[in-house]
Amino acid sequence: MSDQSSGQIANVLNETRRFPPSDAFRQNALISSFADYERLYHESVSDIEGFWQREAREHLHWFTPFDKTLEWDVPYAKWFLGGTTNVSYNCLDAHIHAGRGDRVAFFWEGEPGDRRVLTYRQVYDEVCKFANGLKKLGIRKGDRVSIYMPMVPELPIAMLACARIGAIHSVVFGGFSAEAISDRNNDAQASLVITADGGWRRGKDLKLKETVDEALKKSPTVKHCVVLNRTNNNAPMQCGRDHWWHELVANEATECAPEVMDSEDTLFILYTSGSTGKPKGIRHTTAGYNLYAKRTFQWVFDHKESDIFWCTADCGWITGHSYIVYGPMSAGATQVLYEGAPNWPAEDRFWEIIERYKVTILYTAPTAIRAFIKWGDEHVEKHDLSSLRLLGSVGEGINPEAWMWYYEKIGGGRCPIVDTWWQTETGGIMMSPLPGAVDCKPGSCTRPLPGIVPVALDDHHREVGEQQGGMLCIAKPWPGMLRGIWGDDARYVEQYWKRVPNHYLTGDNARKDEDGYYWIMGRIDDVINVSGHRLSTIEVESALVSHPAVAEAAAVGRPDEIKGQAIAVFVTLRNQEPNESLKDALKKHVRKEIGALAVPDDIRFTAVLPKTRSGKIMRRLLRDIAAGKEGTGDTSTLEDFSVLAKLRGDEES
Ligand code: WT7
Repeated sequence: MSDQSSGQIANVLNETRRFPPSDAFRQNALISSFADYERLYHESVSDIEGFWQREAREHLHWFTPFDKTLEWDVPYAKWFLGGTTNVSYNCLDAHIHAGRGDRVAFFWEGEPGDRRVLTYRQVYDEVCKFANGLKKLGIRKGDRVSIYMPMVPELPIAMLACARIGAIHSVVFGGFSAEAISDRNNDAQASLVITADGGWRRGKDLKLKETVDEALKKSPTVKHCVVLNRTNNNAPMQCGRDHWWHELVANEATECAPEVMDSEDTLFILYTSGSTGKPKGIRHTTAGYNLYAKRTFQWVFDHKESDIFWCTADCGWITGHSYIVYGPMSAGATQVLYEGAPNWPAEDRFWEIIERYKVTILYTAPTAIRAFIKWGDEHVEKHDLSSLRLLGSVGEGINPEAWMWYYEKIGGGRCPIVDTWWQTETGGIMMSPLPGAVDCKPGSCTRPLPGIVPVALDDHHREVGEQQGGMLCIAKPWPGMLRGIWGDDARYVEQYWKRVPNHYLTGDNARKDEDGYYWIMGRIDDVINVSGHRLSTIEVESALVSHPAVAEAAAVGRPDEIKGQAIAVFVTLRNQEPNESLKDALKKHVRKEIGALAVPDDIRFTAVLPKTRSGKIMRRLLRDIAAGKEGTGDTSTLEDFSVLAKLRGDEES
C-alpha cells in the first residue's frame, strides 16, 4: 500500500454520512428494502449452485438446456455445462420474438452533433448483415477478431456480429498506439481487424486506419481489415486486404442464423495491463458471463422499461462490454451512446445530452466527475437534469467530496449513487449498493451482490478484523468470472490463485466496517490508474527504456486531482546530460509506444534508482518522493541510503 492511498483512507475513515434512498425511489424499486436484499443475499450464498441454476433457467434463452450448473476444479470453473445458447440471440432475437423489436436500443450522438436512433430490430438487421459479411471473409467460430473503433453504433454491432457467428472479439481501445494493437493482434493470433477511417475527438479526426496500417506491418496473422467510413478522410485502402464496411454488407441478408455456442465457448478476450508488461488477454465465456452481465445490470441499476440508461464508458473497456453491450442489451434497455469528449464543443456536453434524451440513469467514472467539478457548476446549472433518478460510479474509488458533489449537483439530492466495485476479470459488478435497498455511504461500494462472497484476508490467509484492511479475495466461484488468460494458464494460476489457496485474489485491498460495508483501499501491486484506466508501471518503463538515451526507468503514480493519478517517472540516462528537450522526446516516445494515456506527467532524471538488495526498484519510496513527501517509510531493504537524499536533492534543483 502506498502512503498516498492510505492518506485517502484516513479521509474515508471519518466518513459517517449515510444516505438512504428516498421513499419515492424505494417504492418503485425492484428490491425495495434492506430485509429483501439480505434475504436474497443469504438465499444465494447458502446454495450458490441452486441460486444460479434458477437464475440461468429464467433469464437466458437456451437452445439446449444445461444439465449441470457448476464444475469447480479450482481454479477452473465451468458453468451451465451441456447447455447451448448465443449471446447475440439473447441481446436481439429474444426481444424481437417478445414483440419488442421497435424499442429504441440506441440514441446515438456523434461528437460533431450528428444523431441516429436505432431500434432493436434495426440493430438486429445490421448485426446479421455484418455477421454475413464476416463469414464471407472466411471468419468462423473460434477465430479472433480485433476491433479498433470509435464509439459509433457499428462498434457494438461489430461485437454482436462476432458473438453471433462465434468469433472471439478483442476490442482494443481507440486511444491505443499501433504497437499496442500489433501486440494484441499477435498474442490473440487475430485474423481480422475491424476499424474505421477515423473518429471525432475534440473536433479532430483521429485517423484510426493510419494507426491500424502501422500495426498491420507487424501483425502477420491478420489477413483482412474492415473499415467503416466515419470521417470520410480518404483512408488508404490496400487492395485484397482492406474492405469498406458498407461494401461488405451491401448485398447481405438481414438474417443470419446464430451459431450454437456451448456455455463455455469463449465470447471475448479483453486485454488489460499486468505487472510484467505483457498484456493479459482476460478470457470470458458465453453463458455465465451473459447471465452475470444481465442480472447485475438489472439489480444494480434497478432497471425498468421506462429507463434511458447512459453509460459513458468506451466499449474498449470492460465497462462498455458489460454495461453497454451485453448487460443492457440482454435486458432490452434503451441507451444513449456518445462518440466524443465531455468538453466538446463545451463543458456542458454531457448535461445537454442528458436533458435532450431525458436520461434516467447515468453511469460514469470518478475521473470524469473530478473534471466536471473543476470546470465549474455553471455548466451543469444551464440544464434540466430532473429526468435523472439514479447515478453510478466505476473505475476507481470515488472520494467523498466528489461523491457529495455528484449527489447534490447532478442528482439534485434525490438520486442514489451506486459505487460499483469490480474488475475486467470479474466480468460484472461484484459489490455495489442495490439502490432501493442499501443505504449509501460516500466512498464505500457497500455490499456484495447476490452469489458473491468477498473476504479480506491477512498474509496468513486469516480474515482480518472489522475496519482492518486486507487482501480482498472472493471465496466462491461466480458465473461472470474470467476463465483464464488467453494462451497463458500458468499466469492465470500465478496471478489469481497462488497467493491465497482456493480464493480468487483481486489484487485490491479492502476493509469492512461495523455495518458490513466494504471500503476499497487500492491496489496491492504497483499498477497506475490514470483516469480510471489501469496502466502497468512496467509497460511505461519498458517504453522509456526502449529510447536510446535511457538506461533505466521507474514509473509510479502520484495523486492528481483530475486523473486520479498522474504518471511520474524516474529516469537514469545512458551517458548523456539531462536536458529539457529530452523530456519532450521521452514523452513523444511513450505516446508512440503505448499511447497518449501513458505519457508521463513528470519526468525526473536521476543518477540512481532506489533498489532492494535483490535488485528490485522500490516504487513505494518513489511514490512518496513523487507526491512531495519525505520518503521516510520503511527503508530497511533499501540497498543504498544515499540514493534517497540524492533523489530529494534532484527535486529541488
Ligand atoms: C480495478 C479494476 C471495473 C471496470 C473498470 C476498471 C479499481 C474499480 C472501483 C470502485 C474502488 C475501483 C480497483 C479494481 N476499481 N472500481 N468502485 N472503487 N476501486 O476495470 O481496469 O479491470 O480495474 O479498478 O482497483 O481492482 P479494471
